Amino acid sequence: MASGSGDRKYDPNKFRKYTFDTEPIPRLHCYHPDTDRLIANERPVVITDTHLADTALKWDLEYLAKHLGSGQHTVYRSKTHKFKYYDEKKIKNLPSFTPPTQVLRMTFAEFLDKLRNPGKDRYYLQQALNDTVGKQLVLDYLGFNWDYVNEQQRKFKWGPLTSNLLLVGMPGNVTPAHYDEQQNFFAQLRGYKRVLLFPPEQFGCLYSHPIHSPHDRQSQVDFDAPDLARFPRFREVRGHKVVLGPGDVLYIPMYWWHHVESLVDSEVTVSVNFWYKGGTVDKIEYPLSIQQKVAIMRNIEKMLLEALHDPDQMAPLLCDIVKGRYDL
Ligand code: OGA
Ligand code: FE
Repeated sequence: MASGSGDRKYDPNKFRKYTFDTEPIPRLHCYHPDTDRLIANERPVVITDTHLADTALKWDLEYLAKHLGSGQHTVYRSKTHKFKYYDEKKIKNLPSFTPPTQVLRMTFAEFLDKLRNPGKDRYYLQQALNDTVGKQLVLDYLGFNWDYVNEQQRKFKWGPLTSNLLLVGMPGNVTPAHYDEQQNFFAQLRGYKRVLLFPPEQFGCLYSHPIHSPHDRQSQVDFDAPDLARFPRFREVRGHKVVLGPGDVLYIPMYWWHHVESLVDSEVTVSVNFWYKGGTVDKIEYPLSIQQKVAIMRNIEKMLLEALHDPDQMAPLLCDIVKGRYDL
């Protein structure tokens, strides 16, 4: 029998409700031939029975408190259920930017105190697994099914593993829609998360913040209250959805938008992801893929910003290029 969230029934009323339709993401055994086909085509799939992080299925709060190490970890604090990521390096030149969350550094024991007495705030630990973790955790890490992921990396010609992020979140926490520039094997360890995904083709419906923004790669649309006057194409957005439970591994393809929420009736959620650099293409084929086009759009924005030295001059220049000339 397949392991993971397939064994649990969900109360359809316990999910946050949004304005768009969604269809389910396929859930397949790791040896099912369609699994490879989907990954090769950069389509999301929940892969069961990988045993990718079985040694971490026991990473509950007590175990992590004992073994994560006594160092300081990165913990985000939010006044709402949303934890919208921002790049601290991009804040410096933007005095008007008010961060939606605070980044705190604390020991795991201090984090546990916050979980027990959150007050009006929410907390989300997001710490890269590094050499400061305790010995037992290193052993668990070495016990991951590296044969499996190394084989996937080779088969799909991905670049190197760049990092593993450990996420420990309160029920109801939300990571709003964004895309990453890496391939991701997302392993759910404890508790339940719902993930909504949108293909890179929907770039125009999700209105990412401009490249210079600390919120680069994040959607500007507030899913709880979409401003359709400002973001009219959000009406066209169609998502894919999945609920992940312990043992499930979700492949989140590079440039796919994703929105992640810890179920409100879940225990504290624990996940670990595996981020890989994308592969390099030997021979460019036309027409270009949507992923290549998103990369081109990012490069054009970066070049223009570098040339103009002023984000405020981007829009008038881009409008002059397009308006009345390249409009559809
Ligand atoms: C990711 C990601 C968010 C979350 O792994 O890329 O966006 O809340 N995770 O799990
Ligand atoms: Fe992400």
